[in-house]
Amino acid sequence: MTLEQAAQSFLHQYYTEQGKTGLADRLNDVYQEIEATGTYVQTAEELAFGAKAAWRNANKCIGRLFWDTLTVFDKRHVNTPDEVISACRKHLRYTTNGGKIRPAMTIFPPSQPGKPPEWQLLNHQLIRYAGYEDGRGDPASAALTKQAQAAGWKGKGTDFDILPLLIQKRDGSIHLYEWEAEEALEVPLRHPEEEAFSNLQLKWYAVPAIADMEIEIGGIVYPCSPFNGWYMGTEIGARNLADTWRYNCLEAVASVFGLDTAKPASLWKDRALVELNRAVIYSFHEEGVSLVDHHTAAEQFRIFCDKEKKAGRAVTGDWTWLIPPMSPAAVHVFHEAYNDEEKSPRFAYRKASICPFTGQSSKEHDPSSPLPDHGN
Ligand code: ARG
Repeated sequence: MTLEQAAQSFLHQYYTEQGKTGLADRLNDVYQEIEATGTYVQTAEELAFGAKAAWRNANKCIGRLFWDTLTVFDKRHVNTPDEVISACRKHLRYTTNGGKIRPAMTIFPPSQPGKPPEWQLLNHQLIRYAGYEDGRGDPASAALTKQAQAAGWKGKGTDFDILPLLIQKRDGSIHLYEWEAEEALEVPLRHPEEEAFSNLQLKWYAVPAIADMEIEIGGIVYPCSPFNGWYMGTEIGARNLADTWRYNCLEAVASVFGLDTAKPASLWKDRALVELNRAVIYSFHEEGVSLVDHHTAAEQFRIFCDKEKKAGRAVTGDWTWLIPPMSPAAVHVFHEAYNDEEKSPRFAYRKASICPFTGQSSKEHDPSSPLPDHGN
């Protein structure tokens, strides 16, 4: 598909859905601009609509009912590391909102034809825990932690050190920003009945802001566009803290509840998972931090599908991601089939896991991870 065709199809969608007039004039301008410059500049309204539509089209996401509530920060003119940092801080402050999380996306400059970007953000998420070689912390962050250390960062060495933002400039130099403690909201985990659970000293951060995906709108690619909604409990309780190659906490949880871990058939892992996930939901709720349980999320997804059908749009989806990692067959999503075709506007994994500046792999994914990091 040419850029003209991608622009045409996006603008047609935008003008039709929004009931706007003047499509022919806008298309004429866009074609001329592409002819003259090789690309075109979207209006702020087109950008915001495109970002919302990308969320609506995100096949892996069960939380799409809220696509229309996304706030978009247009930072297409930012070009220094300091400006990137201040935009990310503003994003986090806005979205955290004292715990009542507001879905948001910050969109940095688009890729320019034939030109490498001035800088890139290396983080997987705006807030994430470091992972050290001796096993402390989150092993999923091992590569980024090394990069941060090579750039002069020194973590405290706990299991929950928040990584700094890492911005790499075209000349290869790296700028670090360390979050202030009060900028990164975290939730200490406790259990609704078992007080000893707190002795595990587990916690998780409030805002899951993906920073290493690109968004494509009308043929224009924005390689840096951090975005987030709120967590679904299982992402933390059934994956981040439970996966053996992540925090691997199930045995510790089982011992708090005195479960017999000798026999798999005692289902101690399943029971530990339930208690851990109850603790996640309970703690976020008690702290007033937005988070949805997987049953409610599945019901919201059902409403989303119904609404889309009414609007005459076909819902696409990736079943392997939409089903929750706990009790999947207890939600309707498990029993449905979804078409995984990708529609534009869309999110995609950033093509440049190879650093465009040095040609080196900029963030090797954790080799010990056998599976994709299921976002659900
Ligand atoms: N699964 C990722 C994590 O646990 C976050 C992915 C995005 N999740 C979300 N609820 N928007 O950190």
